[in-house]
Amino acid sequence: MANEVNTIGVLTSGGDAPGMNAAIRGVVREALANGKKVKGIRRGYQGLLEEDIVELKRESVSEIIDEGGTFLLTVRCAEFRTEEGQKKGAEICRKNGIDGLVVIGGDGSFAGAQKLAAQGINTVGVPGTIDLDIACTEYTIGFDTAVNTAMEAIDKVRDTSTSHERVSIIEVMGRDAGYIALWCGIANGAEDILIPETYDYDEQRIINHIVVSRRSGKKHHIIINAEGIGHSTSMARRIEAATGVETRATILGYMQRGGSPTCKDRVYATMMGAMAADLLCEGKTNRVVGYQNGKFQDYDINEALGMNKGVSEYMIKVAKNMSV
Ligand code: ADP
Ligand code: F6P
Repeated sequence: MANEVNTIGVLTSGGDAPGMNAAIRGVVREALANGKKVKGIRRGYQGLLEEDIVELKRESVSEIIDEGGTFLLTVRCAEFRTEEGQKKGAEICRKNGIDGLVVIGGDGSFAGAQKLAAQGINTVGVPGTIDLDIACTEYTIGFDTAVNTAMEAIDKVRDTSTSHERVSIIEVMGRDAGYIALWCGIANGAEDILIPETYDYDEQRIINHIVVSRRSGKKHHIIINAEGIGHSTSMARRIEAATGVETRATILGYMQRGGSPTCKDRVYATMMGAMAADLLCEGKTNRVVGYQNGKFQDYDINEALGMNKGVSEYMIKVAKNMSV
């Protein structure tokens, strides 16, 4: 068979996401079921360059499906962005008998997998990020857990915000992407949602909205602000000064990246990890697993990285109409 793989390596890279452990378990057990050996690379590409590699057996991934984070750990590695680093990574794979590699991470991690494939190591990427910002897939590992964690936290902030008749700005994660903010905005019935994809810096519009909704008798005003817009604390000061309504900022931060994965994250992550192992067993390389139109599918990494993803204009329109 062309590109036959005997030992499959697996690493997690970029920001962690709940469900990564389930994906690793999916890779390990599916590969073992296909008669392959499996090696875990700790601390992403940094660990690869440092040869931090351990053999993974069936029991190595016992009792992790319900755990947040990644037991293989994750690091951002500048050296791997260089051609020298990528050549060294491929040599270390060969030295350790790793002829196929599953990379669980975001677009940056996929770019690394693409470079390793160019160096002759069969690679498959699995989308792991709470941000949902990978174009070839409607699902990324961790988004479901993160958005549920944020939703529950926002419900709690809303209770106190209502009691005190305050405005609350709640900042959720998403440096470049507004999916968490948009979903929470709809799920929590927010009055305003600020996302990097559409933000027009018109703070006066928000101020006018607060004044109008106060007049109509609303006791709270929830603004979900994506991390990519940021500045929630100074925004709160300006809004309070302009409206005369007490305004508080809450930044949810890293709590959104932790916690036990939801059922959806456990199941989809398992499926995607297993599918990545199966693709490598079939001799495929330079692929990314995705979920589109109700099916798990795989794409060429070059094509996947060239795709564009925008937030749904229809979701934005509906979110606005819900807060009128
Ligand atoms: P994510 O995978 O979540 O998008 P990053 O963008 O931080 O996170 O990428 C994770 C790691 O992937 C980086 O620290 C680096 O080691 C590797 N990486 C990112 N971009 C590239 C690239 N263009 N070429 C090679 N490796 C890359
Ligand atoms: O995992 C994605 C993400 O949470 C982004 O929304 C955020 O900007 C980034 O990770 C921050 O990660 P770190 O602080 O770990 O670099």
